[in-house]
Parts: sequence; C-alpha cells; structure tokens
Amino acid sequence: MTMFHNLFTFLFTLSLQTQITNASFHHHKRRLAKNNNGDPKHGNYCTLTRHWHLSVGDDPSTSMIVSFSSHPKCAKPSAPVGAVLIGKEPNKADFVILEQNDARMYNATYPNKKKGSLYTSDYYHHVTVDGLDPNTRYYYRCVTVPSVLVDNIANEEMEDAERGLRQQHWDMTSTIAADLAERRRRYLKGGEDNDGAPSFVTAPAPGNDSRVKFVIMGDLGERTHSYETVAYLDAHREGINAILLVGDIAYTQNDHDIWDKWFDMLDATSFASEIPLQIATGNHDIEQDVETLDIFVAFENRFLMPQVQPAIIETMKGPIDKSLVDYPLPYDFGNAYYAFTYGPARHIVLSSYSNMDPGSKQYTWLVDQLNEVDRSVTPWLFVSLHCPIYNSFRLHRREPQLLHAKRFLEPLFVSHHVNIVFAGHVHAYMRTKPVIYDEVNDAGPIYVIVGNGGRQANAPYHRDEAEDWVLLRDHAEFGYGVLDIINSTHAFWEWEQTGFNAPEEAGKLGRYEPIEGQSDRGYVQNQFFLKK
Ligand SMILES: [Fe+2]
Repeated sequence: MTMFHNLFTFLFTLSLQTQITNASFHHHKRRLAKNNNGDPKHGNYCTLTRHWHLSVGDDPSTSMIVSFSSHPKCAKPSAPVGAVLIGKEPNKADFVILEQNDARMYNATYPNKKKGSLYTSDYYHHVTVDGLDPNTRYYYRCVTVPSVLVDNIANEEMEDAERGLRQQHWDMTSTIAADLAERRRRYLKGGEDNDGAPSFVTAPAPGNDSRVKFVIMGDLGERTHSYETVAYLDAHREGINAILLVGDIAYTQNDHDIWDKWFDMLDATSFASEIPLQIATGNHDIEQDVETLDIFVAFENRFLMPQVQPAIIETMKGPIDKSLVDYPLPYDFGNAYYAFTYGPARHIVLSSYSNMDPGSKQYTWLVDQLNEVDRSVTPWLFVSLHCPIYNSFRLHRREPQLLHAKRFLEPLFVSHHVNIVFAGHVHAYMRTKPVIYDEVNDAGPIYVIVGNGGRQANAPYHRDEAEDWVLLRDHAEFGYGVLDIINSTHAFWEWEQTGFNAPEEAGKLGRYEPIEGQSDRGYVQNQFFLKK
C-alpha cells in the first residue's frame, strides 16, 4: 500500500507539474478515476448541491475555499464527502479535490418553538483547493462522493497511476443536474460555452501591483432591498475581485430557514459562485440558540474563512441581551477574525463581538498582524469590523463593542497607518475624511459605514449638522462601496446606490429624506505615504 501510495504520489506529482505550475501535492487532490466520466449514474458522484460560494484561502493567489451544501439524498447511506472537480478549461475537469474535513451539519431551535421542532441543516462542505496559479481562471463544479466509495476511488486512481494512463476528463455537459444547469445557464456569463460551470480567478501574487477592485457591503439581509442590492451587484460584477460583507448577514432571528433563503438569493446570481465572499461577524450573526445557548453556529458551519486556527467558542452560561450585546462573547479564531493578502492589499477582518482588549487573543493576534505588514509589498492596509468607531448617527453610540474599539483599536489603526476601516451595523452610509482621534488629519485612517446593504437604510442623524470629520453621510439610500486600487499611492472609492426608501416604507419610520443626486466618489490617497 505504501509503495503504491508513493508511486501514486510520484506519478501524480509529475502529472500535476504538467497541469498546474508550481503545484504542491496535496493528499486530498486526486486524479479523476478511469472509466468515471462523472455520470451521476456511475454512482460515485451526487450532483444535487447548492449554495456554492467562495472564500479566499490562506494565500489567495494560489488557494481558494469552495463551499456548498448537498441534498439529503446525497447523504445516503452516511455523511457524504464534498468534492470539487476543477480545471482550466470550461468543459473539462482535470482534478477532483476532496473535502479535507468532515462535512458539517447542525441543528437549531426555531424561535418560539415555531413549527414545534428543530431546524436541521443540509450538510455543508468546505473544500480547500490549493496549488493554483496566480491570476488564473479555473472552472469548477461541486459534487459529493459517498464516504464509503472514497477509498475505492483512490484505489482506482492508484491503478491508473501505475499504468501511467493519461488523465480522464470529466465532461460536464453530460453530468449537471438538470435544474441546476438550467439555472446556472441563465445566470452565468457565456453560458453557451461553459455550460453552467462557474469559474473564479485567483488573486495576483502578493505584492503584485495589479489593479484590484473590492466590494464592501454590510447588513444585507434577505428583504426586498437586499434582492435589489444583490441584483445590482450581479449586473455590475465586472472586474470585482472580492466582496467583503462586514456583518449582519442574513437576519434570521434564529429561523434558519432564512439562511437557506439567503443562500438561494445568492444562487440566483452568478457572482456568489465566482467572486470570493469574505465575511465579518455582526450582532445578527450571533444567533444564540434558545435551548442550547450556542452562538455563531450557522456562521461557523456555513462559511469557512482563511483561518488562523479552528474556532474556540465557549458555552454560554445564560441568554445574551439582544439590545446591548454582552462584551466580550467567548468566541475566538475560526471565522471571527482573520487576514489575507490580495495583490497590493492586506485585509484584516476583526470581530466586534470577541474580546479586543489588550492581552486578549484577538488583540494580541492583531498587533502581530499589524507588525508583520510590509508596505513595500502591500502598500494598502484595510480593516473590516462590524461596529463603527466613527458614527455620525443617533443609534449604536454607547455599545461596549464600539467603545472598546475606539479605546483600544484606534491607536493601533493610527500608529500602523491603516488606510480605511470599514464597518456596518448602522443602517446608513458614511465616509469620513482622514481622521485621528476626532481631528481631521491627512495622515489618519478613513472610516466608512456601509450598513445600508439591504436590511434598512433609515438611521437618524445624531446631530443635524455633521461633525467636522464627516465627508458625506446618507440615511435614505441603499448600496455598497467599491474600492478600486489603482496603484500603490492612489485608489478610487465609489458608493454605488442600489435603491432608496419608498415614501410608504419611510412613512412608518417618519424618516424619509430623499436625496437627489447625492453620491460619493473620489480618489483616496494612500495615507502611509503622507505620514508625518
Ligand atoms: Fe448590527
């Protein structure tokens, strides 16, 4: 077995080097089996999968995390193993990459025991695909393999390897579940020639000065305006490299059917399966279960971010007050906080709900991260966290998450010349001038609120006259920000408006203030090079 395995490894590595430059062998990466054309009737693959979404891997230029859920039918007779079939050409898959960890599923109590039962999730699969080439397009499909067949597939492949057979290609045309293919065909660009296989492009190598573009949105939800935002983004997705969603994702109020609807909303677009979606924790993502008191269960199971280490979540001893969330919650690492480099940009994503005080795990990790940033490699440095440090609105001013961030994080952002700090939470839009400790200063970070993603856009102003550090604020329109990194010294920021409160919606709230033609777009100069 060992000899076969070594032989397989050797041949596989040879083969891999011809297919993927600089690829490193990964034991979860397998050649496609001989005689397996990917036909679902073959019995090896189950193609009933949905909710495909992406996150960058540890190195976004060479790795991507592909996430999806599978139909309960795929789980017979036991939990299936997620697999990604992937290649550089639209209709050919060169490799199958198997899920590195067990498929995940969870139970949750419906709020007020609605329906009198537990919600049970589908199996969620997170497959890390590594050894990719930078700045390269890959086509992929998500399937599952019955766990009892995984070893057989491996053996078959080993036999192939011994014979030195050429790789079989999986013909996607014949294997897509009809409903999924139909839906994908409608939404995917170039559906005629790629026949429903989505694709993604890996990031340019770290330090590469390629032009890259990020969408930053927050507080999306699954409401009328959420669909509007998502449809707008789908129509304007060209050139977007990654999407940051800065918390309050689905607003389920513990009804986890809404998570499925939220992902269904994304399934009806093409961007979610093609552009990595990087998430941050919001208060509506805590979702403390009324029976078990568990927190962040969906947030940890349905997504996988490039982790520092697996999540540490302690059992809560009592219910959390939803209006003024306890600080801190016992949640570290996992999807809570992480960082990644995308070409010329270093992104640090923080958790407003984890401990951020000096000495805490998150603070210690953050200081290390900031100290390691090399601005000659990544001239741009961004932070995302749910609760805003600068807030020109009446709501969310005295919460401990904001106060601790102001006290302990702002000094770090200033001393390390963070370029922009993105937040949501407040259902409005705001951009500050560069600011240091409430004083406008060209060398300071810029603070942006994009909490108008879709759930609501109606936060009242704190004062009629905006603070000196406010560049622009708005609380009647929905939208998201687009950050276009042009070169090491200049970026272009644009607030995309995707919808606005109809008078009847705002009538109830009494806050309808249509702002004709108000927009926010302009160049941002890299403050690191302006530091004094
Ligand atoms: Fe929030």
